[in-house]
Amino acid sequence: MNSDRKPNDPASVASHRPAFPTPSDPADPDPVWITTLVENTVNGRELQAEHGLAFLIHTRRHCLLFDTGQSALLVRNAHRLGLDLGAVEAVVLSHGHYDHTGGLPAVRAAAPTARLFLHPAAVAPKFAGNLDGTTRAVGLNAAAAQTVSQAGDSVVWTAKPTEVLDGVFVTGAIPRLTPFEDTGGRFFLDEAGTRADPLVDDQALFFDTREGLVVLLGCAHAGVVNTLDAIDRFTGGRPIHALLGGMHLLQAGPERLEKTVVAIRGRNPALLAPAHCTGLAAVARLWTEFPGQCGSCAVGTSRRFLR
Ligand SMILES: [Fe+2]
Ligand SMILES: [Fe+2]
Repeated sequence: MNSDRKPNDPASVASHRPAFPTPSDPADPDPVWITTLVENTVNGRELQAEHGLAFLIHTRRHCLLFDTGQSALLVRNAHRLGLDLGAVEAVVLSHGHYDHTGGLPAVRAAAPTARLFLHPAAVAPKFAGNLDGTTRAVGLNAAAAQTVSQAGDSVVWTAKPTEVLDGVFVTGAIPRLTPFEDTGGRFFLDEAGTRADPLVDDQALFFDTREGLVVLLGCAHAGVVNTLDAIDRFTGGRPIHALLGGMHLLQAGPERLEKTVVAIRGRNPALLAPAHCTGLAAVARLWTEFPGQCGSCAVGTSRRFLR
């Protein structure tokens, strides 16, 4: 991010800003824009929110999506922001839950040649436990599953760290090494709720900038700390400049919350933007622990980072 601006400075957080590449500015040689197309909150006229997540990441040369929300809403929001999803070259799915994958058919229609990056386990049936002991399906819906199966050679299975394009990487499966993190809920691979879903498909996106790494989380079912540790190992401990996205701390107990705060403080990111499924209590805790560093990922938010 531009070093002379704070994360919440209106100059660096814009709503309704047409965000596709502008004519070259010598002082701005290689900007990367991140625009929220889907999130649980919204900031801007005629934009809409839904439970889900989708970030558009683009440079002057390339354009990709990280997640797709749960419906075709991302296409409508992109249109209202003046963004053409036909330019999308790659779609990365953070994991196989419906609120990150349901917009896939609409994206595929807009960008039929875009490559699709996901972990093989993302397409497995997925269920979540209800309070009454029953379960509900939370995996890819039928149309999204069909989109993946028909994508053929466009699919890149990301079990390991993989470069998506132009210095933007996806982690692939994230080792679960911390004793205090779990998937964050009662998730199952079967409708009867007998086989726990470890969500090995969960993966994060990251790229380097002049000031350190920018990390995007989908739901962080692998755990925020496991995710940051995996990125540390892959990058040789490159500093974290920004951490954005879903942290799934809704059901986190005091120990997990405390250790998550300690792990983030150890990285001291200039921007921390807990979003989507993080949970209000955890968001409040993070905003309190990191004054002046936190921001929102409401639909319509655009941020620029410099490489
Ligand atoms: Fe989610
Ligand atoms: Fe999820």
